[in-house]
Amino acid sequence: MKIISIANQKGGCGKTTLAVNVAATLANMGKQTLLIDLDPQAHATFALGYNEKASGRKTSYDIFRASFDKTEVSFEDIVINDRDHLSFIPANMMLSAAEINLGGVNGAAAILYRTLSDPYFNKYEYVVVDSPPSFGFLTLNSMYAADMMLVPIDLSYFSFNGINSVYRVSSLLKNETGRDPSIFFVLNIFDKRSKFARKLEEEAKKRLGPYLLTSKIRASVRLREAASLGKTIFEHDIKSSASSDFYNLTGELLKSKDKDIKVALKEFSLHAPKAGSVYVLGDFNGWKKSEATRLTKLESGDWAAHFTLDRGRYRYKFLVDNEWISDPNNVNSEHNVFGTADSVLEV
Ligand SMILES: Nc1ncnc2c1ncn2[C@@H]1O[C@H](COP(=O)(O)OP(=O)(O)O)[C@@H](O)[C@H]1O
Ligand SMILES: [Mg+2]
Repeated sequence: MKIISIANQKGGCGKTTLAVNVAATLANMGKQTLLIDLDPQAHATFALGYNEKASGRKTSYDIFRASFDKTEVSFEDIVINDRDHLSFIPANMMLSAAEINLGGVNGAAAILYRTLSDPYFNKYEYVVVDSPPSFGFLTLNSMYAADMMLVPIDLSYFSFNGINSVYRVSSLLKNETGRDPSIFFVLNIFDKRSKFARKLEEEAKKRLGPYLLTSKIRASVRLREAASLGKTIFEHDIKSSASSDFYNLTGELLKSKDKDIKVALKEFSLHAPKAGSVYVLGDFNGWKKSEATRLTKLESGDWAAHFTLDRGRYRYKFLVDNEWISDPNNVNSEHNVFGTADSVLEV
């Protein structure tokens, strides 16, 4: 079984659309697939047309409740099986209660993972999990369970903040639990006629390298229609551009293994709550100040960015409001021609 979780802190970037239609593509490819709605807003549940049927029936909330109450849950009662090759666990608003009741409980991030290790779920080749737009308890469960994370980015500037937080949470997850899913990004709602979109695509490529999938999901009104009719894109319009985009994306996902990738992703961060701008400049970007080398300000007062770097040795420095600063979190440094020190990094 392979578990693919869709997550991004940003709402409206296409998590639910991707979860529903990647799962539908896998099912269409003849693979036994389970889709789990883990968002209290239950958009995936609606997008598959279970508006009424889901009320009054068991949902993903019952997985968490069973764990909380230490009772058994009957999976037969939770899983809906009315589509070919595609099973579904719906959600409802009660799920937000799980977040409140279980958020601080030790080991609670592993509930979904433990549940899916039950032999009942052995029949599924793929499990796809839709997550809410936050990095709380539910998304942590989704990430903990995941073998692979798929992060949709729409081409708005704020999507890049989402990228940083995905890595922050995943490195936290790795340190705390040892779980280390591979992470891939996909451009969604892409409009290649827009100059702005092409520019942001270039930037995403620079930052994410091979972790940005080459398949994109184009903007398609058919996807919106399908969701409002309670259908997958294949049920609504199998000949649409969106249907072929989802086939390409899913095919690429099945082939993607991060272990094959030679470049490494490196996080740069600096605590500078009062700064107006922070750039990281170094051998890896030609010491050139540009939008692509700018760090993003986080609520904590930290600035952060991630870049893909080929293996090698690099000198770099931060440029904070036009003042050069070496990396206070890196003890490795060497003198430069200006008589000051550059930070040195080996990847
Ligand atoms: N590729 C796309 N083309 C057109 N509309 C899209 C596309 N992807 C998502 N949408 C629409 O954008 C809105 C937000 O998408 P959704 O998948 O619900 O995002 P999220 O789950 O991240 O909040 C929905 O109305 C959805 O139908
Ligand atoms: Mg959603």
